[in-house]
Amino acid sequence: MKKTYIIANWKMQLGVEKSVELFSQIVSNFPEKNKTEVVVCPAYTSLQKVNELNKDKIVKLGAQDVFWEESGAYTGEISCEMLKEIGCEYVIIGHSDRRKYFKEDDEIIHHKAKTALKCSLVPIVCVGETFQERQEGRKDYAIISQVTKALSGIKPVGNNKIIIAYEPVWVIGSGQAINAEEAEHMHQVIRQTIVDLFGVSIMEKNFKIIYGGSISKKIVKTFLIQPNIDGVLVGGASLKPQEFLGIIEEAISIK
Ligand code: 13P
Repeated sequence: MKKTYIIANWKMQLGVEKSVELFSQIVSNFPEKNKTEVVVCPAYTSLQKVNELNKDKIVKLGAQDVFWEESGAYTGEISCEMLKEIGCEYVIIGHSDRRKYFKEDDEIIHHKAKTALKCSLVPIVCVGETFQERQEGRKDYAIISQVTKALSGIKPVGNNKIIIAYEPVWVIGSGQAINAEEAEHMHQVIRQTIVDLFGVSIMEKNFKIIYGGSISKKIVKTFLIQPNIDGVLVGGASLKPQEFLGIIEEAISIK
């Protein structure tokens, strides 16, 4: 069975107390014999306390963003080393919220991904088309362009991992995911783009491609059984412990 990635993005939804409570519920009910890689990405302010609870590291920690410089006079920013210091192994980069509200473009996302990789954090690079791009028939083009611009000139070495999260912007938070076959098609497009950039062996060894957008325990299996979908990035459903644990159980049940 392929290794499945289940990644929770808690966005700006929970303070420290609620994050600690939710994390405790997840780890204390965490299924045994778990072949999935579960990553939780709380807000910056909750990372330290959540990390203190995560003694056995059964769940991996990630941040929701990072700055592209390694240190210096950058008021308000957080570096990769700071994230590693408080237990992060992963970082989300270029989420559609960042692209939309903070005007992050492909160049910024490229710099962030490059720095994360250099510092041995696993970048979870988000890509996704808008509703307008889809309506105008530019969906595949938009994704190829975002993936290419984010990754050009970044060559993963050794066992470095890069995760590409395909999140169609218009379904995020809508409660209505796209269907799994359409997601599989987009994952094939992303896979081909990465193969064109780096070749097939680097694609196989260093990349994972996951889906995000209105994932729930009810539908997650239809996505995870697709050959090119390596996992899911979960927003709203990751805030409900039973729902999120249910998603993990569904992933484990796939032979
Ligand atoms: P939802 O699962 O709430 O649609 O959010 C997806 C997402 O944006 C994860 O990063």
